[in-house]
Amino acid sequence: MDTKLGNVNILAIETSCDETCASVVRDGREVLSNIVASQIDLHKIYGGVVPEIASRKHIQTISIIIEEAMDEANMKFADLDAIAVTCGPGLVGALLVGVSAAKGLSYGLDLPLIGVNHIEGHICANYIEYKDLEPPFLSLVVSGGHSHIIMVEDYGVYRLIGQTRDDAAGEAFDKVARVLGLGYPGGPIIDKISAKGDPYWVEYPHGSIEGHPYDFSFSGLKTAVINHLHTMEQRGEAFKVEDVAASFQRAVVDVLAERTILAVKKLQVDKITLAGGVSANSKLRHEFKKVCNKEGLKLYYPPLNLCTDNAAMIGSAAYYNYINDKVADLTLNAYPNLTIV
Ligand code: KG4
Ligand code: ZN
Repeated sequence: MDTKLGNVNILAIETSCDETCASVVRDGREVLSNIVASQIDLHKIYGGVVPEIASRKHIQTISIIIEEAMDEANMKFADLDAIAVTCGPGLVGALLVGVSAAKGLSYGLDLPLIGVNHIEGHICANYIEYKDLEPPFLSLVVSGGHSHIIMVEDYGVYRLIGQTRDDAAGEAFDKVARVLGLGYPGGPIIDKISAKGDPYWVEYPHGSIEGHPYDFSFSGLKTAVINHLHTMEQRGEAFKVEDVAASFQRAVVDVLAERTILAVKKLQVDKITLAGGVSANSKLRHEFKKVCNKEGLKLYYPPLNLCTDNAAMIGSAAYYNYINDKVADLTLNAYPNLTIV
C-alpha cells in the first residue's frame, strides 16, 4: 500500500469516555497539536465514570478543545484534508458528542469524514512514537475497557488472537484500587504504591481458560484479592496495602506477558507493541523489556501521554483509513460495542 501521500492534515476528535480530546495530525505520524481535557476530577468523587456527567461535560468542552487544537497547530480550517472521530467502542452519549461535532465540521467544511475504532487508535499511537514502525506486528491492547491480543497484519488489517472473557485489565486495577480505598483511576495509584510493596508477598491466581491459551480472565483475580482482604480483616491480621497492590499488579503483568509471548511465538513475529492506558504501567513495561530482550523480540510502547486516551492516536489511525478510501458519510453513528475485527 502507498502510505505516503504527503501533507495530509487531519483534525481528529475523541470523546469515547472521560477525556475530551482534539488533535491535528499530519500524514499519520506527525502530531501538530494534541489537546486533552480530562474529566477525572468530576468523576473521582463517584469512584468511576458517570456516563451522563461525561456526556454533558463533553458538550460543554468540545468546541473549545477543537479551537485550541487548531490554534496550537497554527492551522485554519481551510488547511485541513479530513475530519476524524472515534465512533466506538465507548459510552454512547459520550461518543455521540464527538460524532456530532465531527459531522457538523465535515458538512460545513465539505471535508471527508472518517470514523475510527478506538482500539485501533490505541494501536496506532505507536506509529506516532516510532516513525519506522510498520506492520506486521503483534499488539497487546490493555485499557479500562479492553484487553486484546491482536495481530496487526497490515495497516487497518487486524486478527483477534485473544481477549478478556470478563473484566478488562484496567478495570481490574480500578476495582482493586477502590476496594483498597485508593481512589480513581486505580491503575496509576497501584503502579506508584507497588514500588514500596513486595510483589511476592502472596500468589494470586492467574485465571486461565481451558482450550484458549491467549484469552484472559481478570474477574477471578479481582475476587481473589477481595476475599483475601476480607479473610485477613476477619482474622484481625495486619497487612500492608503496598504488598497487596504489588502482588496483584505482578499477577496481572505476569498473565499479560505470558500469554502475549506465547502468541508471538506461535505466530512467529518478532515485534510486539503495547497500547492502551495500562501500557503506562511501569512493571508491565519493565517485564516486557526483560522478556523481549531474552527472546530477541523488538518491543514498542507509546510515551505516557499517548497510552491513555487522546485524539492524536485517532488522527494516526484515520490517516491509514483515509489513504485506503475508508471514509464515512453523514449517517455515521456512535457504536458503543464496536469491535476491531
Ligand atoms: O486507554 P484508557 O485511557 O481508557 C480506555 O480506553 O479505557 O485507559 C484507562 C485505564 C484505567 O483503567 C486506568 O486505571 C489504567 O488505564 N491505567 C493504568 C495506568 N495508567 C492508567 N493501569 C496501570 N498502571 C498505570 N500506570
Ligand atoms: Zn482508551
